[in-house]
Amino acid sequence: MPSITIDGKKIKLNKDEPRNILQVALDNGIYIPNLCYHRKLLRYGACRLCLVEIKGVNRLAASCATVATDKMVVTTGSPRLLALRRTVM
Ligand code: FES
Repeated sequence: MPSITIDGKKIKLNKDEPRNILQVALDNGIYIPNLCYHRKLLRYGACRLCLVEIKGVNRLAASCATVATDKMVVTTGSPRLLALRRTVM
């Protein structure tokens, strides 16, 4: 079964129901700050508060606009991200 690791927590993914990283995290008790995301609305991706680090990817990714995929390793609260969120706010 496909899975994603968020902050060291391995989470199974349902391949028949693709979800973004933010929704997977929230559904599994991992909070990622967000402002412009709502699961019932189209993705807007403007506030940048939900940025995360993905292992093997050089740039930060908006977790609300990035589909969770198998073997993805995500960090949500590194010092770099916390500093960036303060700047965004
Ligand atoms: S929640 Fe605003 S960009 Fe993701």
